[in-house]
Amino acid sequence: MNTPRQEIEARVAQGVSKLFSPVPPAPYVRPCPDSRHGDFQTNVALIQGKESKANPRDLAAQLAEVLELDGVAEKPEIAGPGFLNFRLTPEYLARQVTQRWGDARLGVPTVAQPETVVVDYSSPNIAKEMHVGHLRSTVLGDSLARLYCFLGHHVIADNHLGDWGTGFGMILFGYKREGDPEKLKRDPFAHLEAIYQKVQREAKTDETVREAARSELVLLQQGDAKNRKLWEEFLKYSLAALDVIYQRLGVQFDYTLGESSYNDALPGVVADLLERGIARESEGAIAIFSDGTLPPKDDPFLVSEKEGYRDNPLLVRKSDGGYNYATTDLATIRYRHEKFHAQRVLYVVGGPQQMHFRQLFSAARRWGYNDVKLEHVWFGTILGADKKPFRSREGETVKFRALLDEAEDRAGKIISEKRPELSDNERATLARVVGLGALKYADLAQNRNIDYVFSWEKLLAFDGNTAPYLQNAYVRIRAIFRKAGLEKIPEASVQLTEPAELALSRKLLDFADSVLMAAEEYRPHYLCLYLFELATLFHKFYEACPVIQAEEATRNSRLILCDLTARTLRQGLNLLGIDVVEQM
Ligand code: ARG
Repeated sequence: MNTPRQEIEARVAQGVSKLFSPVPPAPYVRPCPDSRHGDFQTNVALIQGKESKANPRDLAAQLAEVLELDGVAEKPEIAGPGFLNFRLTPEYLARQVTQRWGDARLGVPTVAQPETVVVDYSSPNIAKEMHVGHLRSTVLGDSLARLYCFLGHHVIADNHLGDWGTGFGMILFGYKREGDPEKLKRDPFAHLEAIYQKVQREAKTDETVREAARSELVLLQQGDAKNRKLWEEFLKYSLAALDVIYQRLGVQFDYTLGESSYNDALPGVVADLLERGIARESEGAIAIFSDGTLPPKDDPFLVSEKEGYRDNPLLVRKSDGGYNYATTDLATIRYRHEKFHAQRVLYVVGGPQQMHFRQLFSAARRWGYNDVKLEHVWFGTILGADKKPFRSREGETVKFRALLDEAEDRAGKIISEKRPELSDNERATLARVVGLGALKYADLAQNRNIDYVFSWEKLLAFDGNTAPYLQNAYVRIRAIFRKAGLEKIPEASVQLTEPAELALSRKLLDFADSVLMAAEEYRPHYLCLYLFELATLFHKFYEACPVIQAEEATRNSRLILCDLTARTLRQGLNLLGIDVVEQM
């Protein structure tokens, strides 16, 4: 099933190859910037005109003559210096809407060549409680996993937990001194974080504390039985607490292979890097330096300074024999390549780690991993109203659990006002779907590379580009069917006459494009924007075109538009990890 854009593109390509030589490079067609002029536009005559020194308007006219558009679009109009504008015909739109309606995938094709795609996301450091910073990685990663899966790829969701770093030295030291097994069981995050913070504070001024924490870590990494056992306890309870959060969010992982899983592989990785001459010794440590193959300004192992370039090595073993974050990541690449046969790995991790990943990917390529696409899908920071990183009123980082609680609380209050008659149970369910949906959507609707200002009022608003607005549009459509007393739509043919019907139909056909674009650029906000525009056009349609009151043929045709809109909203939201409800 071609999308309208693909359909026009194919026809223009055909005409171009008949008429122009050499054939200018595709693609030729893009959506019309102003829908009053048409649905799609090509500037290929302008490009060819420049190339062959011919009058572009003449070329456009010749192209218009040879194009075979048979019923897909009206005869194109020549505009401006030599554009061609295309308007899809109502018959074509009606046919396409009917096809989408009969298709469980709503016109979204599966890929011709499925890949094995590892999505590395959420990945919190569990010495500390999950906080607001983990929201973005968790919801973005979840949405990307869903998108790639929907497109037919083989997706492996892997939570690369920070369960092995320096934090654990401090925790072990502190826990041995003042740990409480009861508290650990009851609220592992809070207990471990309290210990961690206390030791961290002491370590700032007290060298002996620093030293003690370091030796606890060394003991752990060398396999000391007591430390190992304690660490296993920490991990067990922390994982259970994490699970509660992920379940609440509807986020699932295929694997939780934390940093600790790679511990035994690290000496071998470093030995191999040394043997192949990729890493070398430097001041007692082992590191990867520039190999001089890249222009200095693109070389992640160099940084520019006033006097020129300075080395910016990637450490893989510290002088005290400990291993680094990067060493684990290299071991992880090897593992994912060998065990999962990964063809693509998406690292959904914040912007501050851009340098780490540039170095890591470059090191991996030098190490021979050239047949796996490595992508750092980075994101910006969530800001408070003061444009500084979002914090609680007390000035602390906002805990993940508190964030979810507040989302549900606030949604619950709004729902109580709108629907006082609901039972507590019904309200709680709605509050969860609406509150958590709103929270996720607020994040996904932003271009991920941009820092955004967090606002409860905005994200829970029932109008605007929000989850509640989309969920509400879905609910409204379901209400139409309930009112009509219909569960199944009578067989009918789609007929489109009203401008609002045509506009809604055109939008309905763009669903596949928005999904493909969101996946390709790892930017779910394209899909959000699409769904928002779809819901808006639906409301316009619903205001302009009576459905239930219309005479039968029109009513049934419009019911098809309603149903396809509802299914598209539901599927689109599902790809964002957001649920719908039947009533709200
Ligand atoms: N635990 C890390 C952090 O919180 C993120 C890990 C991301 N994944 C990776 N393979 N490095 O910063």
